[in-house]
Amino acid sequence: MRNILITGGAGFIGSHVVRLFVRKYPECRIINLDALTYAGNPANLADIEHRPNYCFERADIADFDTICRIFRQYDIDAVIHLAAESHVDRSIKEPFTFARTNVLGTLSLLQAARQFWNGHWENKLFYHISTDEVYGSLHPQDAAFTELSPYTPHSPYSASKAGSDHFVRAFQDTYGLPTIITNCSNNYGPYQFPEKLIPLTINNICHNIPIPVYGSGENVRDWLYVEDHARAIDLIFHKGTIGSTYNIGGGNEWRNIDLIRVVIATTDRLLGRAPGSSEPLITYVADRAGHDLRYAIDATKLQQELGWRPTLQFEEGIEKTIRWYLSNSDWLQNVTSGAYRQYYAEQYARR
Ligand code: NAD
Ligand code: DAU
Repeated sequence: MRNILITGGAGFIGSHVVRLFVRKYPECRIINLDALTYAGNPANLADIEHRPNYCFERADIADFDTICRIFRQYDIDAVIHLAAESHVDRSIKEPFTFARTNVLGTLSLLQAARQFWNGHWENKLFYHISTDEVYGSLHPQDAAFTELSPYTPHSPYSASKAGSDHFVRAFQDTYGLPTIITNCSNNYGPYQFPEKLIPLTINNICHNIPIPVYGSGENVRDWLYVEDHARAIDLIFHKGTIGSTYNIGGGNEWRNIDLIRVVIATTDRLLGRAPGSSEPLITYVADRAGHDLRYAIDATKLQQELGWRPTLQFEEGIEKTIRWYLSNSDWLQNVTSGAYRQYYAEQYARR
């Protein structure tokens, strides 16, 4: 029996990783550790929360004593660390929160793992989930980021993720803690919080609310369907080389404005609206401060070393995603109204 601690499992990507591991590895105990910030929603895991190999711990990763207690209580063998403050716009408004969770929280998990495993590294792994944003921004003519690209973060979010990556490497190099880091491009799919571009656009189309396009709309992001990311994490967790970094990405670059137009066309069609009827919702607004122009990931190492490939074409993934949001309007309504927070606050207060 392996006891796998997954942090941030009530969030967007974490919920897909927890679901995959709980279903695929019934012989393993999956402990989901999540503070349930605004971004954490246990409803994301309603379909697997009663499985016997699933446990939930509401805790803050920066609370070192509690993290140590969880390592002892569950005899943790491996960590897949996703918990983070993840939204760039919020990091511009509240950088301290990002430094606390992303840097100090990661340090607290590393230190707990180091103390608990105490040099017995066999079959142990600390797997840190990071982002392509640590590499900074590309010009249109530049080659995609590789694992050797220098770190040049620009936002408080990416600076905090870069800081956490550096601590992970420092623990590998200084103490021998077995670690892996992956840096992934933009994810999309079900359960993404509607502050992020794609679910925000879908939600605004549904309610005829203006769609804010930052700056000129020409910024480029490289999009990957979230379940393909979860499959990559599973593969790297089991087969990746200790001490390595892997880039994860689907080679799927879109200018924001073109992506928004695809989401509008698909959503209008699925809603039975006339083609282009939501185009007037497009509203150019002030640019994001320090807005990175372009991200693009070169995932050759992962493809050649471990044979990973994304399974979904973008057209298929985006339609699947939009269909999910349209048929889960209760989830979207609960999240946008904040009702889910009240409900879980009461549930946990009763425990
Ligand atoms: P998310 O915001 O949807 O979820 C984050 C989760 O972490 C939430 O459940 C939240 O409650 C939890 N959390 C936040 N602070 C915590 C704390 N102090 N203690 C415990 N739990 C806490 O984020 P996401 O988009 O699912 O991203 C997950 C991870 O993947 C992050 O580390 C992010 O940097 C990384 N990542 C995200 C993307 C993307 O496109 N979303 C791409 C690459 C990497
Ligand atoms: O690249 C990986 C990163 O992708 C992750 O590490 C982050 O956690 C994740 O949030 C995401 O960051 P981005 O800033 O790229 O994602 P976001 O959805 O916020 O924005 C995507 C692009 O769309 C970006 O260029 C800003 C723009 N945008 C965003 C919003 C929310 C708009 O034009 N309008 C908007 O309303």
